[in-house]
Amino acid sequence: MLILNKTAGVFSKPSRKKPYEFLRSFNFYPGKLFLHKLVLGIETSCDDTAAAVVDETGNVLGEAIHSQTEVHLKTGGIVPPVAQQLHRENIQRIVQEAVSASKVSPSELSAIATTIKPGLALSLGVGLSFSLQLVHQLKKPFIPIHHMEAHALTIRLLNKVEFPFLVLLISGGHCLLALVRGVSDFLLLGKSLDIAPGDMLDKVARRLSLIKHPECSTMSGGKAIEHLAKQGNKLHFDIKPPMQRAKNCDFSFSGLQHHVIDKIIMQKEKEEGIQKGQILSSAAHIAAAVQHTIACHIAKRTHRAILFCKQRHLLSQSNAVLVVSGGVASNLYIRKALEIVTNATQCTLLCPPPRLCTDNGIMIAWNGIERLRAGVGVLHNTEGIRYEPKCPLGVDISEEVGEAAIKVPRLKMEI
Ligand code: KG4
Ligand code: ZN
Repeated sequence: MLILNKTAGVFSKPSRKKPYEFLRSFNFYPGKLFLHKLVLGIETSCDDTAAAVVDETGNVLGEAIHSQTEVHLKTGGIVPPVAQQLHRENIQRIVQEAVSASKVSPSELSAIATTIKPGLALSLGVGLSFSLQLVHQLKKPFIPIHHMEAHALTIRLLNKVEFPFLVLLISGGHCLLALVRGVSDFLLLGKSLDIAPGDMLDKVARRLSLIKHPECSTMSGGKAIEHLAKQGNKLHFDIKPPMQRAKNCDFSFSGLQHHVIDKIIMQKEKEEGIQKGQILSSAAHIAAAVQHTIACHIAKRTHRAILFCKQRHLLSQSNAVLVVSGGVASNLYIRKALEIVTNATQCTLLCPPPRLCTDNGIMIAWNGIERLRAGVGVLHNTEGIRYEPKCPLGVDISEEVGEAAIKVPRLKMEI
């Protein structure tokens, strides 16, 4: 058991348990008084070990992240036990770095917020058990965080965005459109029926062996496709956007993935007389066509969601806000497609900066602040708390959206 020495503001008796030895090495600033709420956020839902300390006004006082992307690029995808091991090896150092950088004493924290859903079970487990030990050690409230809710609310750390607003979350693991009505009040309008766009881009990039491309070797699949697409002609291949007849806000990417991988890439390999694993001379054209197709698909579903919300008076007619976040939201081509939609519907398009679009500890800490301020989901007893690998977002009204069958006017996608 650690004992807090109040005069010195440090932990005088180190725990025999290893995870807390690091607490002794913090530099504390006894003269400094924090009047705001301060939350430590911890994220381990997928392949990033991240932590941050954020205050009530949105100031990021300290932040640290360890990305596993390079390791998983080599194995061609995330291997959950490998991710778990890397989280275990890094979580203590990352939390220590974030707290040390913040110059906040652990005793000054208002609460600890940690992603507990959805995500990879083995990865979530590392963050949760580390956080629970810390919570008990420091005797702080615990705030369990929904990873997608945190992505959705990140924008409010930077901009004064009032509820309700529409959010499009596009990443490697998720693809959904939701109306955000409050800190824990979400209406799910549509989601991907199969894989997420980032997953699809990663698979296409892997099949194109872009990791061997000198300009793309350290990039994620999606980033590599965006980079290469700039050198290609999007009209070189005629690829139809998916689900053109389904008048709902759901998405699909696996048919497109199979079409590109099993038809276009295989055919081009035959034509160019190259083996699987070598880089096609038409790789940039394929990247451009794939990116354009998914941009149009995402834009059309989002356009329908805006029209639905306006028709049902769920969003303001003239001041509606669309927030786009998640790893794929860093893609500037997709953002431009969405800009065409928001211009046509008198909406404001807001995207967090790229470092806040991908997984990070700041969004988790900020969600903790939002929950503290609203007084929702702040636990003083963590008994029975479990991680949940699968967890829907909000109330699913996607069937109602489909029944409305809103016809979306055609827009010129000149990007
Ligand atoms: O949000 P994120 O960091 O992790 C989760 O999936 O939760 O998103 C990672 C995904 C990967 O699939 C990656 O290929 C994709 O985001 N991504 C991009 C870009 N940068 C990252 N996709 C398209 N364009 C980009 N510039
Ligand atoms: Zn994410």
